[in-house]
Amino acid sequence: MCGIVGYIGQKNTKEILLEGLKELEYRGYDSAGIAVLSNGVFNSFKATGKLVNLEEKTKDFTTDKFAVGIGHTRWATHGKPTELNAHPHVGQNSYVVHNGIIENYAELKKELVNDGVTFLSQTDTEVIVHQFEKNLKNSTNTLEAFKKTISELEGAYAILLVTKGEKDKIFFAKQGSPMLVGINDENEKYFASSDTPLIGHATEVNYFEDGDYGYVSSEEIVIYDKNGKKKEPRFVKLDTNKLSAQKDGYRFFMEKEIYEQSSVIADTLLGRVTEKEVIFEELDSQLFDGINEIKLCACGTSYHAALTASYMFERYSKVKTSVEIASEFRYREPIMTADTLFVVISQSGETADTLETLKMAKNAGLKTLVICNVDNSSMVRLADATILTRAGVEKGVASTKAFATQVTVFWMLSLYLAQLKQSLMQESIEKQLELLRSIPACVKVEESMHERIKRLSKRYLHGHGFFFIGRDIFFPLALEGALKLKEISYLHAEGYPSGEMKHGPIALADPELFTIALLPEHLLYEKSRSNVEELSARDSTICAISPIEFDKADDFIETKNQKDYMLEFFEMMVAVQLLSLEISVRLGNDVDMPRNLAKSVTVE
Ligand code: F6R
Repeated sequence: MCGIVGYIGQKNTKEILLEGLKELEYRGYDSAGIAVLSNGVFNSFKATGKLVNLEEKTKDFTTDKFAVGIGHTRWATHGKPTELNAHPHVGQNSYVVHNGIIENYAELKKELVNDGVTFLSQTDTEVIVHQFEKNLKNSTNTLEAFKKTISELEGAYAILLVTKGEKDKIFFAKQGSPMLVGINDENEKYFASSDTPLIGHATEVNYFEDGDYGYVSSEEIVIYDKNGKKKEPRFVKLDTNKLSAQKDGYRFFMEKEIYEQSSVIADTLLGRVTEKEVIFEELDSQLFDGINEIKLCACGTSYHAALTASYMFERYSKVKTSVEIASEFRYREPIMTADTLFVVISQSGETADTLETLKMAKNAGLKTLVICNVDNSSMVRLADATILTRAGVEKGVASTKAFATQVTVFWMLSLYLAQLKQSLMQESIEKQLELLRSIPACVKVEESMHERIKRLSKRYLHGHGFFFIGRDIFFPLALEGALKLKEISYLHAEGYPSGEMKHGPIALADPELFTIALLPEHLLYEKSRSNVEELSARDSTICAISPIEFDKADDFIETKNQKDYMLEFFEMMVAVQLLSLEISVRLGNDVDMPRNLAKSVTVE
């Protein structure tokens, strides 16, 4: 959700900033901008829409000597995605970029306007630069003015600010939104919202913590903590595997990521599943001592993975499990008891609502675990224990392989708990382990299935809506299928439990209502089939996904005869992902960067 970059060094600053923004574009693509201070002169450019527009605008601008620069790619929160609202925002002598939300911006703006300041944008961010310049007038020290400004802000932010009086510095502050600084042997400094833009440039990185502020020049990195105490940066080596972030001949990252699921699930299983047991070296089994309940908390697709997990924890581990939507949980004064293990699930590890619930659970003294795809993310740094999903960089805004690895981890974890609690016989565990090991084979995309989905997708471009329906774990999969379709096709879709349709939604049935029916062979087949027949009898157009041919279906996506419903889940997951992809492609949409969305939602 908004990406920010910064650079101090001798190289072509514009190129480095644009390259960094390209890596972060998936975080927001309403508009983008850069500001470069070189030889005491500022150059700033902004453009609405995707980054190519900014590249075009800056094509005649170069910097070939020492410069400091900041850049931003925006997901609009306050103010429409216009050029005036694009960052960097300018004062008289300074520029600022910001990711987050300044909650008290209206009050600050009112005072500044009373003081005679003219605002150019409708954003919350612009107050930062004017407030800073106001404070600078009453101070002889830039850092003091910056510190005072930060102390006056309420909300979440990662901020970079450059000002003419300090030609070789970038001032920074972090509270609630991610930011890191990277270094190398060439005395360069790189800032970014995540580590991918730094790969190939920096060798070591320091992840800022909430409350950190200070400045960076080519000579030094000066950090103060939230109490104003100076602290040393803590550098860690930067992971340089960027290969997975290229499209490799696929039309879209989402398509590539669907095809990659087999290999990333194999990575997720690696070293964790033997013929006899599940091993999580990263977990101390004491984490589960005294635990009588598991509470899972997440947003969006990760929430759907959590819902799926709740069936497995109760069925296999025999542990009472509840699932929470993070944005609801954080404001509903929940009861938290010490015998509950609080588990957050997040691809990015930065989602503001989920992160906040993790903080709440920690403050309440609960044991915490995060299932996450990004090592060193805010949630990973905060939780008592972590299981990494090993999906690799996920660039498509619509999550696919991250979801697949989350469900894989949960399946393993439910068996790990079953081992600890002896809630399943060893023989049953071994059967499950064999199934687990066959997920990579069952999610391999069959060309014939992909072709079939490509062809049949043309029926589903209009109509008045979609219902994805399923029972048991196929209900969360139905929710996930509907979410995928909504996100990238902009068509209305709902996920629903098959058995609930007759309690209201069936009133919508007619040929323009599309039912995507998940009909696994090994779980409640007859019951699910009857529910679909009820819809078919009322003329809904039916697309059945099943290994068993269904004569009432208008379209049929045939899955293989898997040994178990868990494997059917994974195969059907691929089918619903491909269906959304192909509908969206036919509609001519940008699959990887759908309108109004951003990959990492770091505001609430
Ligand atoms: C949908 C999608 C989102 C995310 C949600 C949570 O395809 O990707 O719904 O799942 O924003 O994000 P994370 O998992 O990063 O916490």
